[in-house]
Amino acid sequence: MNIAILGAVWGDEGKGAITHHMSKDYDWVVRFGGGANAGHTIYRDGVKYVHNLLPSVDFRHKHIKSYLGAGMVIDLEKLRDEIAEAEKHFPGVAKTIYIDKDANIVLQKHKDEDKATNAHIGSTNRGIGPAYKDKVGRSGFRIGELIKNHHDSIIYELMTMGVHFTYVMEMEAEFRASKILFEGAQGVLLDINHGIYPYVSSSDCCASGIISSGFGFVNVSKVYGVAKAYTTKVGEGPFPTEYEGKEAEDLRERGHEYGATTGRPRRVGALDLPALKYACKKGGITDLIVTKFDILDGLKEVKVCTSYKKSPVSSSDFFTAEPIYSNIQGWSAKNKNELEEFINIIASQTGVDIRYISWGTDPKDIIKWH
Ligand code: IMP
Ligand code: MG
Repeated sequence: MNIAILGAVWGDEGKGAITHHMSKDYDWVVRFGGGANAGHTIYRDGVKYVHNLLPSVDFRHKHIKSYLGAGMVIDLEKLRDEIAEAEKHFPGVAKTIYIDKDANIVLQKHKDEDKATNAHIGSTNRGIGPAYKDKVGRSGFRIGELIKNHHDSIIYELMTMGVHFTYVMEMEAEFRASKILFEGAQGVLLDINHGIYPYVSSSDCCASGIISSGFGFVNVSKVYGVAKAYTTKVGEGPFPTEYEGKEAEDLRERGHEYGATTGRPRRVGALDLPALKYACKKGGITDLIVTKFDILDGLKEVKVCTSYKKSPVSSSDFFTAEPIYSNIQGWSAKNKNELEEFINIIASQTGVDIRYISWGTDPKDIIKWH
């Protein structure tokens, strides 16, 4: 059974940790969109790692292979450095990494342009928007082209390390016979089509990105959306349930909410159920995983936005949203039954069941919910 794991709202919901934990049960973990703007935080044996381009594979399990799909835009220098770092801890891991030759390349000029023109979006300055602009404008560079024209020395460095360059169709038989986990990047509300435009990233963050990357021939039976028990956002744009002042500072500190890629303080706020419901529908999410319950542990009551005065039907509705809140009974680590009310409200308001919850960064903190 193939599955996908997407960020349900604005990313940073902990899908890296979830993917990492689940990856051992799969043959392949495939990234299908975005680039080094992503920051997937992973804890292995108590050590923190951040993957920007590599899928969140648990490299301790040598059978798992990584695929960087055609929908991605890849900064080759960054990729080389990330693989070299991974090799230090897990020798031989480069041989488990496959790059799609139809993926586009991020060049220095893209990063320069990003910095010069995309501050109002809150871009990560990793060249993502400009690289996709060139791709869609049909003037981008694909990896396959560089290989054909013997243009790039980093590609040869990567090949020497053992990294494979291929096409999905060359791997079709293997993919058909494998269990695949598709790992999203960012979150549905940052999707180029369905996010809160123009405050979005430039890629497919929805399940549709799997097909855009050329995997139309495989079945994906579950699309997990990962949501936090509260909401965070990095970058600009509307955030209907955002906290201000001390309420924001307290939650940011409790949750250590600083960007994994840029170190920026994240904006924080209450769980936004209308936004989550919208994201589940548009993103193709079939099941939810809710993380970071430990951060709110011990609060008497937890504030949740259960509706807006007008339910959102388009991204423009988020600019004018008037949230309506409820206070839900809090919980403590000792008594997980106290979570029942909170979880039931998520399921009833979104129409999507919660399959797993998480209490922290350790794999043992990821718990199957009934
Ligand atoms: P870009 O993808 O760097 O162009 O950034 C566009 C918007 O998406 C900005 O608001 C970023 O903060 C946000 N963004 C991009 N990647 C991530 C991510 O991995 N997690 C959270 N936000 C992201
Ligand atoms: Mg992140």
